[in-house]
This record gives sequence, structure tokens and C-alpha cells, in this order.
Amino acid sequence: MPMKALILSGGKGTRLRPLTYSGAKQLVPVANRPILFYCIDNLVSAGIKEIGIIISPETGEEIRAAVGNGKLWNAKITYILQDQPAGLAHAVKVARPFLKASPFVMYLGDNLIGRDIRQFVSDFTKKHSDALILLKEVDNPRQFGVAEVTRGGSIVRLIEKPENPPSNLALVGVYIFSPRIHKAIDRIQPSKRGELEITDAIQELILMGHKVKSFVLDSWWLDTGKKDDLLTANAIVLDEWGKKEIGGTVDKASKLLGRVKVGKNSVIKASTIRGPVVIGENTIIDHSFVGPHTSIGDDVRIINSSVEHSVIMNGSEVIDIERLEESLIGRRVRIFRNSGHKALRLMLGDDSVMEV
Ligand code: G1P
Repeated sequence: MPMKALILSGGKGTRLRPLTYSGAKQLVPVANRPILFYCIDNLVSAGIKEIGIIISPETGEEIRAAVGNGKLWNAKITYILQDQPAGLAHAVKVARPFLKASPFVMYLGDNLIGRDIRQFVSDFTKKHSDALILLKEVDNPRQFGVAEVTRGGSIVRLIEKPENPPSNLALVGVYIFSPRIHKAIDRIQPSKRGELEITDAIQELILMGHKVKSFVLDSWWLDTGKKDDLLTANAIVLDEWGKKEIGGTVDKASKLLGRVKVGKNSVIKASTIRGPVVIGENTIIDHSFVGPHTSIGDDVRIINSSVEHSVIMNGSEVIDIERLEESLIGRRVRIFRNSGHKALRLMLGDDSVMEV
């Protein structure tokens, strides 16, 4: 049976509020592309053509609108509604009619990894494993699923969000399973947070005597659920995959240094842009400086300002601001200087953060 994929793209994105009040966390852009698109790229480049995407009632329509039927990737996409956030293993249960008896890659739609998964897929297939998991050392293992491993690298035990982590090896949100996972899921109970955990299901597979392989991931891994991770992800993706490409107009008084991508119909006037930077379409940068690791969306105006190491999404304006850095700015936000007095005049949405 050919390998399928299941991308999890539900959830509420509480840690990325306020951005996620108005949209799905998997669609937050990294280098001007939704995080979810990188997951699909990775699956497709491993030769997987049949992809199921788990969506929630809250953000499902938006995900469908962004991804469509998969034509962009030459893949076949099936949307699967999980009507309640009852856990990752619950999502696999809901996807059974799609997965049938196929082996599958399960990919969390807010996880980004710095390498392709081809080798993992072929290793899994060659060795007839029942699960393949990826591990990565982290500083805060309490926030993840954690593996206890022997010196030789075999897994002793897996625990979800342990109070006393047995190691700092976290489970990365990319897994490969044989259809045996379904039986393991049927045997587990909801965790303390009330969810059917995939970590518990893999632990159950081990107890059932099945073959669970692990690899320590040799590339970066980002769980983009938080602001700082998102800025880091943006910087890394621009560093590694950024290209020089000029689609708009750059006047003589401007300087573009390094890898700078300028989208169609964008205009750069009397400005300096130091890459890696990506700028979307119909955007104006005028009398400004844009520093490294910045992604600027479509229909943005940056005027008489300087911006660095930031993400500025579609339709926003930054005018007369010296200077904006390490900032995550949503859609249609207006930031400008008031003339005359020193007071701040603000209209910030719920859960906004402002550091002055
Ligand atoms: C989930 C998994 C956890 C894993 C993490 C990776 O956590 O339950 O085991 O380490 O994804 O991103 P959650 O995002 O549900 O907190």
C-alpha cells in the first residue's frame, strides 16, 4: 500500500494570540508563506501524493481556502473534520476512513523542520517498522512529549508533558506509522488534559511488543506556536531558503544588499534593504531601512521608518517609526508617529503585547 500523509491543522492557537483570533495558526506566514505549506512541500518531496488534512470547525474553511485541492503541489488533498479538540490520537481515529490500512506520515501543521523526510520514509519502509519517531534535544522538555532512551538509543518509555522529564529529548511533531497504530489508539485512555495523546499510543505500541524506531533529528526544528519561535523560524527560513529575485521597481536612490526578494508591483524608493528579506506584492518601501531577517507581506507601506528582524503581514502600515525590531505585526495594523506630544495613542486587540 502506498504511504499516505495526515496533516493536523486544527487547534485554537492560544499561544499565538492575538494573531490567531482572526485566523488559523498553521496559516501564519514564515517568509511570506503559510507554515502549513512547508509541511506539504516536505511530504510531496518524499513522494507522498495522498494527503489528509485534519481541520477544526473554527478554522477549517480558511485552511481549505488557502490550500485548495492540492493542485499547486500535484497532490490529492482530502479534508477531514475533527469536531472537537480531543487530541492527536483522536484525530487519527477520525481519519481512519481516509487512512484505511495504509502506512502514513503524521505531520503537525505548526511544526517546521530543516530537512526533508525522504530518508525517514525509506528507512521505515525497509525495516518494516510500526512507528518511527523523531527526537530533538530541547531546553524545556516539560512542554513536549519526552523519550527515555537507553545508551544504545532504544526507547524505554515515552511520556507526554512530564513533570520530571527523564531526558531532554522531545518528540518532534513528525511521525510515521503502520496501521498497527489504530489498535494501540483503541487501547489508550484520555490523558490528564482530557486528550487522547499520540505519545500514549506509541508507548502502547511498545508495550504491545511492536517495532518503534527513533532518530535524533540532525537539523533545526521549530514548533511555531509562540512569538519568539515564529521570528526564529522566519530568520532561519530566510537564511536557508531566501533568494534574490526582483519582481517590482527599485529606484536609483535605493540599495538592495544580499538576498532580497521583491514581489510583483512593489516599489522601493530611496531605501536600503539588507537581506535576507522577502517583500510581497503591491508593497511600498519609501525612505526606509529594512534590515536582515524581515518578511513584509502584500499591500504594506513602510515609509520613513526602519524595520529589522520582524514579520509584517498583509495590509499593514509603518510610518515615521525609528525603529521597529523583533516584532510580529498582524494584518491591517497601522503604526505611525503622532505629531507634537509624547503620549501614546493605542488601539490594541485582546492579548496584544507592546514594549516601549
Ligand atoms: C504535541 C505532542 C507532543 C510533541 C509536540 C511537538 O504537543 O503532544 O508530544 O512533542 O506536539 O510539537 P502539543 O502541541 O499538543 O502541546
